[in-house]
Amino acid sequence: MQRKKSNIKPKKKSTEKKKKELYSFTDNNLILSDKGICKGNEYYRNEKIILFHGDSLDINLFNIPFIDLIVTSPPYNLGIDYNSNDDELSYEDYLKFSKKWIRNCFKWSKKQARFLLNIPLDKNKGGQRSVGADITKIAQDIGWKYHSTIIWNEGNISRRTAWGSWMSASAPYVIAPVELILVLYKDDWKKTLGTKKSDINKNNFMDWTNGLWTFNGESKKKIGHPAPFPRELPYRCIKLFSYVNDIVFDPFVGSGTTLIEAANNDRIGIGLDIDKNYCELTKKRILKEVRTINFKNA
Ligand SMILES: C[S@@+](CC[C@H](N)C(=O)[O-])C[C@H]1O[C@@H](n2cnc3c(N)ncnc32)[C@H](O)[C@@H]1O
Repeated sequence: MQRKKSNIKPKKKSTEKKKKELYSFTDNNLILSDKGICKGNEYYRNEKIILFHGDSLDINLFNIPFIDLIVTSPPYNLGIDYNSNDDELSYEDYLKFSKKWIRNCFKWSKKQARFLLNIPLDKNKGGQRSVGADITKIAQDIGWKYHSTIIWNEGNISRRTAWGSWMSASAPYVIAPVELILVLYKDDWKKTLGTKKSDINKNNFMDWTNGLWTFNGESKKKIGHPAPFPRELPYRCIKLFSYVNDIVFDPFVGSGTTLIEAANNDRIGIGLDIDKNYCELTKKRILKEVRTINFKNA
């Protein structure tokens, strides 16, 4: 006997389901499908971190908004030897470079994403430039909203030689030994999405909401990278501005400081660097400095 063909069509998977398949958590593991979210080269991954060898200027690298918090420090265009990128652009080209990667980050960010951007206040070599003000303007033109600025007093009291006109009012130089951490956000400042689980203690909350942060910079020699920031910097940003399990992104990973602090504080760290040597350095640091056991409930 021949069976009658069924008229019932198989149900199509809903878009919601498909989205979930692209990136979701299973027992605290982040699944980032190869076909879905990133077209870059995955260099290393563990259950809390994904590191890509890639270029933050490549808009096609990620194809869905996934970022809750960005903590990053881009190249400062001070002529540092980073192996793979030119750190001596004209100021105009540096601003164009900044515009491109900041726009990409905007596209890759969720609507309640925050953007903690560590940049210089100004530039004194090769012409005086208001880097902080110029980049703030660029970010705002792209769509990032301004929240505030943290002044990082890094205690840099290295011997100064550039006085301009010594003991004369003719043309003295004023240099502030500080850097900025711009606090920007995408659509809404109030975070209503995510786990809603904060893990900052009272004293730190009170101290860090005072926007003058004082702690030392990191030793280049110790880390083996020409411009690492200290772990304290992403640590404070992550604790103050993100929820447990949020996705923390760094488009300029360097030696991996942001990823290490994200993973050690029960967030997911995702990042990229254009230089393979720094990806390798990051991987080594992760293997050494990231706690693999979850001490949260210990
Ligand atoms: C200031 S360092 C970041 C240091 C990092 N915060 C740390 O703690 O080690 C900037 C990094 O950006 C990387 N870089 C430069 N241009 C890039 C690009 N277009 N895409 C991705 N990474 C880039 C450099 O290789 C360098 O490691």
